[in-house]
Parts: sequence; structure tokens; C-alpha cells
Amino acid sequence: MSNTFYVTTPIYYVNDVPHIGHAYTTIAADVIARYRRQRGERVFFLTGTDEHGQKIERTAEAAGETPIELANRVVKRFEQLSQALNITNDDFIRTTEKRHETTVQEIFKRIEESGDIYLSEYEGWYDVREEAFITGTQLEEILSLPESKRPKIEKVKEESYFFRLSKYQEPLLRYYEEHPEFVRPGYRLNEVVSFVESGLKDLSISRTTFSWGIPVPGNSKHVIYVWFDALTNYLTATGFPDDTETYQDIWPADIHLVGKDILRFHAVYWPAFLMSAGLPLPKTVFAHGWWTVEGEKMSKSTGNVVDPFQVADEFGADVFRYFLLREIPFGQDGDYSHSAIISRVNGDLANSLGNLVSRTLGMIERYCEGKVPAPDSLEKTDENIRDSALSAVSKFENAMNETAFHKALVSVWDYLAIANKYVDDQAPWVLAKEKNEERLGTVLWSIVQSIGVVTILLYPYMPESAEELWRRLGASEPLSSVNLSQARDWGFIETGSKVEKGESLFPKYEEAK
Ligand code: MSP
Repeated sequence: MSNTFYVTTPIYYVNDVPHIGHAYTTIAADVIARYRRQRGERVFFLTGTDEHGQKIERTAEAAGETPIELANRVVKRFEQLSQALNITNDDFIRTTEKRHETTVQEIFKRIEESGDIYLSEYEGWYDVREEAFITGTQLEEILSLPESKRPKIEKVKEESYFFRLSKYQEPLLRYYEEHPEFVRPGYRLNEVVSFVESGLKDLSISRTTFSWGIPVPGNSKHVIYVWFDALTNYLTATGFPDDTETYQDIWPADIHLVGKDILRFHAVYWPAFLMSAGLPLPKTVFAHGWWTVEGEKMSKSTGNVVDPFQVADEFGADVFRYFLLREIPFGQDGDYSHSAIISRVNGDLANSLGNLVSRTLGMIERYCEGKVPAPDSLEKTDENIRDSALSAVSKFENAMNETAFHKALVSVWDYLAIANKYVDDQAPWVLAKEKNEERLGTVLWSIVQSIGVVTILLYPYMPESAEELWRRLGASEPLSSVNLSQARDWGFIETGSKVEKGESLFPKYEEAK
């Protein structure tokens, strides 16, 4: 039984520099990790790089360097991306590390001992870009595409070790039936089931025509298929097989986040390998959608690849994080555009949240010498705003527990609308004019509590801004050490706390002329 919440991103190919797709999965995983820690759970959050395979070998060759030189160079960009986006991963795995080779070879041996590996010959097609063997139906689909749209595939004929994937067709189908939460969202499970129902052929899991990979134990003429190698990273990082205690504390993974394009590897091959090796399966594989850019597929040749460093630089990491997870329901495809991000900044952040904060803290500075006033007895309307906050916290948590980021954020913004309306209705500036100190104190106190709740909820999404806001509310302990349950203790921002309005946290974005 694992006691640690284990969340992973895919490990990224080092033949490419980071783009918005990498940033997306990594940010989503970070929000989950921060949220779980905020609930007091132990968390292990893994990301890293996938450094073997024919594609990397060829890219390195074309750049006139060795594969490891290429990997050492590009991996830095991925590490910098984590820093630029405030990612709190607990480990960063590189598949060229020794610890990984040990785990991959151990899994290979265990599967071999189960009688699920045999030596034969592979003859067929291979897609080097996807590092994938092409099945009969896939080949038909590819050939039906216009030539310009066809992926580049190559004919391969070589000796190869095979994994008896066909043996796992029925066990997998039974497993999906008994564990419908294994693949999410639900509509993706249906795709996986029909793929498996259409018949599984044994899978080639070694190559002999290039050498950039982990050798097959006992036959170094072969390198292990890069997906077998890559998927095993999730086990390597748990300390398997040597560090049993850590392994048992962490494995099985609670959630593997992946893009929809690599779901098959995670929801079919990976569980089959694990079943064969006699190891527990991850609890959930969550497949997210793909981003297009201004309506177009991102590609180097079109020149429309969005650089996450540049976006984080222009808008700040928090805004980028918020935008990606608010803009589209997690699971569906979305479209990235400069104007969409600007309208989120100006509408959601500057207007709704920014305004509530600056007018409230401004009034406390003006009317109450900058100190949170004491509440008098609560009227119905003050109780309503408290009850709405508690209900927003519940909705937020429910959404987070089902990985519905945009729903979680909508619950916060629905609440911000209620809080803003409360300010308009109660008009503290009128109460101040009328010298109605008691009502003024109660109203400002209530709004500060509302902002406190929102700040706690937003922490996983916008950690820097939330931390700063928390400080401006007069808190002395860092927000990162505050438990989420505190959001339910209405009144936790104490009377007498010194607040600070400061500069606008989310200034309106004006397009440079
Ligand atoms: N190395 C493999 C993963 C091995 S995991 C055991 C791989 N790497 S990748 O770098 O090509 O892709 C990493 C992730 O980026 C995938 O989850 C993929 O879905 C995601 N994305 C790539 N382009 C994307 C978009 N345009 N939009 C959203 N995500 C996209 O695959």
C-alpha cells in the first residue's frame, strides 16, 4: 500500500526544445502536486527526459554531436523550463542514468521469466518520429492520407525480441471493465477498449540496427525498444528494485498525465508489461487534449511553435499557468492565441480578482488605518457570503479531485462575482461617510475573509501571486505551509492584521503599439 501521492508527466524527448505542450502537462502536474501537499498529503512528483532511441541518435548525428552531448545540452532547457514555470517536481529523471538502466533490465528479466519474451524477426513499418511500430490497420490509414500529410515511415526487417502482448488482450479488457477509472476522461477509455478489442499482436521490444539504447540483458546486439525503456522511468524513480521501502511507499502511481497521442502506450502496453512483471498497475492514466495555435497545428515548418519561456516572460508564469488550465476543460483540445490570454488577464485577473483586492485593501487603508477591522454581529447578507465561500471550497475540492481544473477555477470566479456584488451592495464607502463604524467593520472584515479563502484556493495555480497576496493580507506564515482546510475556518484573517494594498497584482494588459 503506497502512502505517497504519486503524479507524473511524460518524460520529454530531448531531440526538441520545450514547447507549450510540454509546459501544459508539467503545469497540470504541478497544480495537482501543490494541491495534494496543501491537503497535508505526502507527494512524489516526477518529470524528466526520454533520451534514447533512433530519433535522438539521428538528430544528434545531423547536428554533428554524439547523442549524449545532444541530451546534455537540451536537458538544460527542460530543467530551466521547470524553474521558469515554478514547477515543484521532487525528482527529474533522465533515461541515460545508471539507475534507470538497472530498472529497465530488471523489468525485462522479470517479463522474460514469465515466459512473455521470445526471439523472432520483425518485418514491417516503423515511424521514427513517433518511435512506433505500425500495425496493419494503421498502415491502411496512413496510405489513405494525401502524400503531404503522411508520416514518414520506414520499412524494417530485423531480428527482434517480442513481448506476448496478445496474451494480455483479455486480461486488459477485464481490467478496464473492473477499473473504469484506469483511463480518464471516460470517452478515452472507450477508444482504448475498442483498440484492444480489435486485436492485439505481439510487440517488438528490441532493435538491432542502431545502438543508442539500453542493451537487452544477455544479448547486447539488441537495444531495448525506446517505449519499453521510457515507460519504465515511472518505476525507476521509485527506487525499484533495490530500494524496496521507497518503492512500496510510492508505487503504484496515482496519476500518469499524458497527451492523448501517447495514451495507447500508457493504457495498453504499460499495464501489460506490469501485469507480466507481476507488479501493481497505476491507478489512473489521464489523457489531455492538444493545443493548436491560432487555429493551426503547431509545427516547426509552419513556424508557429509557442515558446513557453517567451509567454512566461511576457505575462508571468502565474498568468500562463492560469490561462492554460482555465481556458479549456482538461481532456479537450484547445486553441492558444495571444488575444485569448489577454482577455483572461484583463477580464478574470485584472477586473474580477484584482479589483476586489485593490478596492478592499484600499478601503482598509483609508478607513481603518490599514488594519483588518473587527466584525460586529453578522447580518443575513454577511452570513450568505460566508456560506457561499464554504460552498465554493467544496465545489473547488470536488473538481480538483476529478482533475477538472477549469471547473475548480470557475467555482473560484463564481465566488469572486458574489464577493464583488456584496461590495457593490454594501457600499462600504457610504457606510464610511455615514460613520456607521460597526457595519463598515463587519463588511470589510467579511470581504477580507473572502479574499483569504480565494487566496488559499488559488495557491496551486498561481503560487507567486497567491503568496504575495497572502503577505499583503498581513499573514506572517508562508502560504505554502497553510493547510487547505483553513479555507473552511471563516474568520482566519485576524482582526488587527496589517494589510497592504501595494501595486496592482494583475495590471491590465495593453498591447504594445
Ligand atoms: N517521450 C515521449 C513520452 C514518453 S512517456 C513514458 C513523448 N515525448 S514528447 O516530448 O514528444 O511529448 C511529450 C508530451 O507533450 C506528450 O504528452 C504530448 O501529448 C504533449 N504534446 C506535444 N504537443 C502537444 C500539443 N500541441 N498540445 C498539448 N500537448 C502536446 O511523447
